[in-house]
Amino acid sequence: MTTERAEEEEEEKDEEQVVTPWDVSAGADGKIDYQKLVKEFGCAEIDERLIERIEKCTNTKAHPFLRRGLFFAHRELDEIVTAYEKGEKFYLYTGRGPSSESLHLGHLVPFQFTKWLQDAFKVPLVIQLTDDEKFLWKDLQLEDCRRLAKENAKDIVACGFNPETTFIFADASYMCPSFYTNMMKIAKCVTFNQAKGIFGFTGDSNIGQIGFPPVQAAPSFPDCFPHMFGMNKKSLKCLIPCAIDQDPYFRMTRDVAHRIGGYKPALVESRFFPALKGESGKMSASDPTSAIYVTDTAKEIKSKINKHAFSGGGATVEEQREKGANLDVDVPWKWLNFFLEDEEKLKEIGEKYGSGEMLTGEIKQILVDVLTPMVEQHQKRRALVTDEVLDLYFNSQKKPKVFLDLFREYEEREFCKWEKKASTSDSDDLCKALEQKLQLEGATENEEGCAIGAPKSEDWLKIRKARMQKDAPTEGSKSALKKAAKIKAAAEKKAAEKAAKAAAKAAKEAAANEAA
Ligand code: TYM
Repeated sequence: MTTERAEEEEEEKDEEQVVTPWDVSAGADGKIDYQKLVKEFGCAEIDERLIERIEKCTNTKAHPFLRRGLFFAHRELDEIVTAYEKGEKFYLYTGRGPSSESLHLGHLVPFQFTKWLQDAFKVPLVIQLTDDEKFLWKDLQLEDCRRLAKENAKDIVACGFNPETTFIFADASYMCPSFYTNMMKIAKCVTFNQAKGIFGFTGDSNIGQIGFPPVQAAPSFPDCFPHMFGMNKKSLKCLIPCAIDQDPYFRMTRDVAHRIGGYKPALVESRFFPALKGESGKMSASDPTSAIYVTDTAKEIKSKINKHAFSGGGATVEEQREKGANLDVDVPWKWLNFFLEDEEKLKEIGEKYGSGEMLTGEIKQILVDVLTPMVEQHQKRRALVTDEVLDLYFNSQKKPKVFLDLFREYEEREFCKWEKKASTSDSDDLCKALEQKLQLEGATENEEGCAIGAPKSEDWLKIRKARMQKDAPTEGSKSALKKAAKIKAAAEKKAAEKAAKAAAKAAKEAAANEAA
């Protein structure tokens, strides 16, 4: 093949591969070239060393999605890990555009991974439901999108997120002043030409679409959630787990972050869970045979896999036995890579199916056996998600203060740092010093927040006061509690000395009186 022809083919392939937040289609060879995407988007690949560091600092074995390279790309995940190693916390942010009644298995990928991140790092999480986005892009009424957001939220909750540390919100209902302020600040930094370049808007795009990207960008800044993180735009860094299709939103966000006074959000990005009919197709709500939904019955799962799963196996038993399967395009094999946890079993299946020892029907049956209980368990958990349960995740009035404990260690370390700087060595009362610190920072002005450096309410101070005065350090507490205990011991010693002195004085006086 001439170089010219090779170049032409390369160009053809480039032209055909489309990955945007709204369209994903493979290149001419039926595959998505992820390496090319990484280069094009300018993100980095996750390497072994980074995975090892995550395992070490969380003391948790990496999730199979990470170990198997399914979450394969990142932006500044290494910096989040470095900060975490030094004791700094962060928050997670992910989302869903509610365009269908239920999620398909591909949607479970980021949510399952986010759940693992939340548990491993013990950090709070916000989940955005972009009912507004789907209203602007799909042929749906806003009321439909709101309803779908609620339905989808049930599936998200069924993934097992901790209600204490998870806040779910739908844009059309949550939008609050600080959220809107962030949106406006972001919007002002991005020209229409830049938006066209990033998102491919044309003259036919409605102006709601053109104005939408700041809505998805804003939750990357913690002050969009004053009830959780306070009003300081730099109180916490943000890590966003998603598939790589969402990257354009956050490329834009990262470009403007410093200009609006925030940190650039970090990202951890996955490959796509392929459509049932093959990587070149799209899982679509309008074609129910293109995907398995979390509402599908055991019968539907079996039938869809047997009838529609794209096979890389030989066309006949003889051909399969002779040549083995092409694992690069085989959907059952790819899906097992996502959802079969047993590493050994997976390896064995790959070897046997790739060599022809295993037939297509057999691997499909294994897939049915893996997915059926997974989906059934999901459905059982979802059935438990009542309106009251949803309220635990959505109600911003109930959220305040739950993050106190989560950030306790960090806050106390920060507090000690401040205390050292302010050299309040004469202060034998940590609570007094704390109040002073808050006043110095003008933090008492705002009553809403509760996170690091965030505004305080009377209640909040009382909680901290009680905590600081606790005798024994509990699991989360370190230096400040130690210090409080030390101060308490010193005060007790002082009081005991004073009492002994007084007793000695009284005894002396009594003896003198007696002698007189
Ligand atoms: P949506 O609803 O298209 O997708 C929700 C999440 O699922 C990921 N995803 C997939 N992951 C693996 N394989 C697939 N086949 C697959 N299809 C979708 C998406 O990347 C996403 O993480 N605009 C967003 C909603 C959103 C959001 C966010 C997503 C708002 N804020 C922050 C991620 C992070 C959307 O419509 O996602």
